[in-house]
Amino acid sequence: MIGQPFIRVENLVKTFLDGETEIAVLTGLTMTITEGEIVAIVGLSGAGKSTYLHLLGGLDTPTSGRILFGDRDVTAMSERDMVAFRNQEIGFVFQFHHLLPEFTALENVALGALIAGGSKAKAFERARELLVYVGLESRLTHRPGKLSGGERQRVALARALVNEPRLVLADEPTGNLDRKTSESVHDLIWELRERLGQTFVIVTHNAGLAERADRAVHLVDGRVDDNPLVFGGQI
Ligand SMILES: Nc1ncnc2c1ncn2[C@@H]1O[C@H](COP(=O)(O)OP(=O)(O)OP(=O)(O)O)[C@@H](O)[C@H]1O
Ligand SMILES: [Mg+2]
Repeated sequence: MIGQPFIRVENLVKTFLDGETEIAVLTGLTMTITEGEIVAIVGLSGAGKSTYLHLLGGLDTPTSGRILFGDRDVTAMSERDMVAFRNQEIGFVFQFHHLLPEFTALENVALGALIAGGSKAKAFERARELLVYVGLESRLTHRPGKLSGGERQRVALARALVNEPRLVLADEPTGNLDRKTSESVHDLIWELRERLGQTFVIVTHNAGLAERADRAVHLVDGRVDDNPLVFGGQI
């Protein structure tokens, strides 16, 4: 339900091994995310933002700590349950969109629904609807190589939404776009939240997006900085 606590992240630690050296990337990150919230995650390059997003989405496992969706601890799930959970509940938008070059915009979006086990007709119908919604009705049969950067980001957003996930995780979704195009992708995110009540966690270096978000969370030294002194200039 919108406005209710949705995700509870408890004391998340992630350490990578580089040969013999341990690199502590997340050092005890704790936060609560509310249903329907748009949260921006900001911080310097190397602060652990992408690492955090991967853990939230179950693409990687923490060294210690827990991530609870309601009362389900995703860090304790089997790989198989995690895959099913991810397909149902989480949509990803990556910085470099990760669209499949051989497939059309429509196929790229429909694939997500097909993988989740929907019927072919339904998957394509839903993909088409979403692409129309993001303003790409006339680009359905274009391959990614024939789309502009902003159009590709919009396809990636449609793909993330095709299974109606409750949570959308986006890693610098507008990182490589000009200001005007970025703003139109942001507008779309807000419109979607309005229409579908989804929760968005967005890693961004974009000060405009961080300010517009319901909340901007600053990562410093692998945890949440509760007292960011200067905000705009640092991200
Ligand atoms: N698989 C890995 N093995 C070893 N070190 C890693 C691995 N993944 C990330 N790191 C290290 O963890 C740190 C945080 O990386 P991360 O990608 O989370 O940063 P980020 O905040 O997303 O930065 P950026 O803004 O540049 O994208 C970096 O120093 C990186 O080198
Ligand atoms: Mg990153």
